[in-house]
Amino acid sequence: MNSSGVDEKPALRNKWDKRHADAEKIPPATEVLRHNLHLLPGKGQALDLACGLGGNALALARRGLEVSAWDISPIAIERLRQFAAEEALANLSTEVRDVENLPPQPNRFDLIIVSYYLERSLIPSLIDALRPGGLIYYQTFTRIAVSPLGPRNPAYRLDDNELLRLFSSLKLRFYREERLLGDVSQGIRDVAMLVAEKPPVHRPAA
Ligand SMILES: C[S@@+](CC[C@H](N)C(=O)[O-])C[C@H]1O[C@@H](n2cnc3c(N)ncnc32)[C@H](O)[C@@H]1O
Repeated sequence: MNSSGVDEKPALRNKWDKRHADAEKIPPATEVLRHNLHLLPGKGQALDLACGLGGNALALARRGLEVSAWDISPIAIERLRQFAAEEALANLSTEVRDVENLPPQPNRFDLIIVSYYLERSLIPSLIDALRPGGLIYYQTFTRIAVSPLGPRNPAYRLDDNELLRLFSSLKLRFYREERLLGDVSQGIRDVAMLVAEKPPVHRPAA
């Protein structure tokens, strides 16, 4: 195994390499980020975990955060590196990394964003990796959905209100999950999205 852990899962890496090679353009930042840009800190260390082509990472870097973008796919990471270079975003660093083998270290980031990647066993490490006062932005597919998009295996989709349970140790700041309520031709369907804050540490006055 190399230090990034990616050689352990060649089939997974190849699957994602192919999808990312075929993608024609940079994906936009996900809704959970676009709708909550105003909650971002003005500076700090951010992580786009399982970043793919890095639409979120690029958006965060354009806002001046110091961004790390990690993904198991060397093709995705190389394409993102080129996008960042074209925009001269020196504050975006990329890494080919298996995040299940090498999760982030504790107390490392002021913000972590995860979109369309769900590995439940990693959630405690993500919470640990946030600094006090740090934010998690999360968006991924729900089992109840209107469109056929996203993974077919329900294990890779969220149950009703599951993000709330996974991040219940944090302070909820934003949540949206619409399921099949009302007029399903409107709104943001098929996904749940959450922004939550790790409580700051309050030291008693000396
Ligand atoms: C559906 S894509 C989402 C990409 C991006 N977050 C987005 O919203 O456009 C899922 C990503 O997870 C990455 N991935 C899957 N397993 C991974 C692992 N163990 N470590 C790091 N990245 C992984 C894939 O390479 C792929 O880029």
